[in-house]
Amino acid sequence: MDRLRVVGGARLAGTVTVAGAKNSALKLMAAALLAPGKTTITNLPIIADVNYMAELLTRLGCTVEISANKSQVSIDVPEKLGHRADYDLVRKMRASINVLGPLIVRAKEAEVALPGGDAIGSRGLDFHINGLTDMGADINIEHGFVIAKAPNGLTGAPITLEFPSVGATENIMTAATLTKGTTTIDNAAREPDVVDLGEFLIAMGAKISGLGTHTITIEGVKQLKPTTHATLADRIVSGTWAFAAAMTKGDITIVNGRVEHLEVALDKLVEAGAVITTIENGFRVKMDKRPLAVDVATLPYPGFPTDLQPMVITLNSIAEGTSLVTENVFEGRFMFVNELLRLGAKVQVDGHHASITGIPQLSAAPVAATDIRAGAGLVLAALVSDGVTIIEDAFHIDRGYPDFPSQLQSLGADVSRA
Ligand code: UD1
Repeated sequence: MDRLRVVGGARLAGTVTVAGAKNSALKLMAAALLAPGKTTITNLPIIADVNYMAELLTRLGCTVEISANKSQVSIDVPEKLGHRADYDLVRKMRASINVLGPLIVRAKEAEVALPGGDAIGSRGLDFHINGLTDMGADINIEHGFVIAKAPNGLTGAPITLEFPSVGATENIMTAATLTKGTTTIDNAAREPDVVDLGEFLIAMGAKISGLGTHTITIEGVKQLKPTTHATLADRIVSGTWAFAAAMTKGDITIVNGRVEHLEVALDKLVEAGAVITTIENGFRVKMDKRPLAVDVATLPYPGFPTDLQPMVITLNSIAEGTSLVTENVFEGRFMFVNELLRLGAKVQVDGHHASITGIPQLSAAPVAATDIRAGAGLVLAALVSDGVTIIEDAFHIDRGYPDFPSQLQSLGADVSRA
């Protein structure tokens, strides 16, 4: 049952509700380690990674309870924590690396397996390690682990990131909450997920300013207290639905979607011909013609999100005209284009540019998902193909899109597990 069967040709119409973001929920769970006692996180997406993070926190000594409907987790954090995150879990879920910062300041040491590269690129950790080292951690890489020690705790420091990395900003910000002195992170990531994590830390008693700007300032405090926090809605899932509406000449109302988190992506859809209206608790995307091709360059937030790059290449594959999509964040992200070519798309990749010539319809074929977002892009491609597409390795899609097949069915698509 690890395959999806998608019948092409449906026009998607109706309402979908978007749950909390994977990329917020997992980071919030990891940051719960900062405060002994019981922290509760609500509005979780129902995805396997939440269970993996729960397992990791359990191995670190926490008592973790996921509610029966799986939308809420409580994490009871002990005074004395373990400090090791093994490869078997870290390789499944890169967000495991987010335990590094909290463990260094709470357990004074951490051993976290290196996640390694994946299908979207090499994904280094140098910015995380340099930042934490500047704050006084002694960090070495040994036997596939990041081994960090800080027997006397960390001290705030001025840190400038070479690139506004989401993960590095998060690890440095979480560690900085429990240091002596003040840390500034220049060229910090401004993603809503980072802001969500920062607000969670503030609710725990952290002193943080500048969230959502290029410079985040964290004044260290002696201790944090547990809190309850609702996960921010997933902007990438919201954006995926927006592209699905635009590509299938559909009409989708996206409940919990927030236009202010997707400005550039939604502007591109308007340029492609979609009509977007904001409603009280979300937004609606309507399209009644073949999309026009749009040029896009992915950039850190608030730029066009790299996680929606497969969706825009797919849209351009069936659009009127030619387009250029430039990937500036992950060098391996064009890997999925090979699968799209199997569906007849006309895409040429040259370095970090893809040029696309739109054709009216793709042609169904067996394909394989290589990562979460590529998988979602292939589902959209299958919806605008003639015939039946089988998508292998659908577990990738399940990691980011809770209940995707049944949500698609509720919008009128013929999608099932095969
Ligand atoms: C997070 C998201 C991912 C999203 C990405 C960019 C999670 C689990 N994943 O990934 O879905 O696509 O943000 O919005 O939240 N880099 C280094 N050295 C470092 C850190 C990063 O060279 O120490 C490079 C990466 O290889 C990449 C770029 O910086 O080329 C951006 O990476 P980063 O923002 O850190 O992405 P993640 O946090 O891994």
